Amino acid sequence: MDRLKINKEVTKGIFEKVREEAEKMKAEAEQGREAEKSSEEKSEEKPETLILGIESSCDETAAAVVADGRHVLSNVIYSQVPVHTLYGGVVPEIASRAHVEKINQVIRKALSDAGKTIDDVDAIAVTYGPGLVGPLLVGVNAAKSLAYAKKKPLVAVNHIEGHISANYIDNEELKPPFICLVASGGHSHIVRVDDYGSYTIIGRTHDDAAGEAFDKVARAIGLGYPGGPKVDALAKEGNPRAIDFPRAAVGDSPYDFSFSGLKSAVLNYLNSCEMKGIEVNKADVAASFQQAVIDVLTEHTMRAAREYRCDRVALAGGVAANSGLRNSVKKAAEEAGMNFYMPELIYCTDNAAMIGAAGYYDFIAGKRADMSLNAIPNLRVGENKGNIIVTP
Ligand code: KG4
Ligand code: ZN
Repeated sequence: MDRLKINKEVTKGIFEKVREEAEKMKAEAEQGREAEKSSEEKSEEKPETLILGIESSCDETAAAVVADGRHVLSNVIYSQVPVHTLYGGVVPEIASRAHVEKINQVIRKALSDAGKTIDDVDAIAVTYGPGLVGPLLVGVNAAKSLAYAKKKPLVAVNHIEGHISANYIDNEELKPPFICLVASGGHSHIVRVDDYGSYTIIGRTHDDAAGEAFDKVARAIGLGYPGGPKVDALAKEGNPRAIDFPRAAVGDSPYDFSFSGLKSAVLNYLNSCEMKGIEVNKADVAASFQQAVIDVLTEHTMRAAREYRCDRVALAGGVAANSGLRNSVKKAAEEAGMNFYMPELIYCTDNAAMIGAAGYYDFIAGKRADMSLNAIPNLRVGENKGNIIVTP
């Protein structure tokens, strides 16, 4: 009887062990199935489209790797500012030579920072205008050589459209249509972004660009090159209402700009102070000048957004890095119940991530350049020049 009991106990023990083991195996099998399922799901996920962006239109040699037009894997910028500071502005010949010296290094670093090789990228996007012809040619030829040697598609990107596309970076929810104020060293535009790669210019400057005015005023008050960031910093110490500089309107064009009158007003003010022996408060001049620019840029941009019934407003270009302008347009847009977008500071001034972003949308739209691609120094927003083929 005892033996029977013992046998029963033993059998029960073995049975329990086998059951435990079976349950373990079942759990492991389930785990395996889950893992298999998730790796199957992963392999079904669309692979990222990687664009190598190249930018050399002025005094920054830049390269970046961008995934799906929105995510920056690397962003390398070699700034020539210290070289040009000696001359008080960009010297095109020196800029071209510096681009030649740095371009390969910058591209190599962009790929290695992204953990990619040139074989991993889907296309090479390059700025082909507007800009300085010598500097542009360096980027265009580097991109053409790589595209030819590695049999990669070549995408020609408009620099201004690149600035606008900087807004897509890390702003997953931003989609066209939207109104974008583009204010840089060479351009001041109000643009309606109708769709990806499709633009309507609503307003433009009749003379100086906003950034150019910043640079000229900076020089006049002895701040040197580059002027914009220096005026921005000094303005924080001054009174923006100290001097009543003009806010120019341009005839019957409610969205256009003119900054040369404002620049002359600042120069006249400085001259008259000098002649009268009055000491100039540079911080007040910087703050009052900056406020005049901000007021006009904000007012015209918001007017365009209202009239064109767009509830999304964005900023782009080097002047979009200005702290006063960022706050002003943000506040105005929020008060009007509109959504406001602006690129991170590093994507406002010249960079190649924005070229990768714009290049992505051109690439998926089928736009391709061939080996005849040339630099177009006076290229306009929304203009397709230079033998760009669109494949359906
Ligand atoms: O977009 P960008 O780097 O180059 C062009 O495409 O022109 O813009 C450069 C311009 C320069 O005129 C520079 O003075 C201005 O942007 N800028 C600024 C600021 N940072 C750069 N202007 C005002 N405030 C700033 N913080
Ligand atoms: Zn630029």
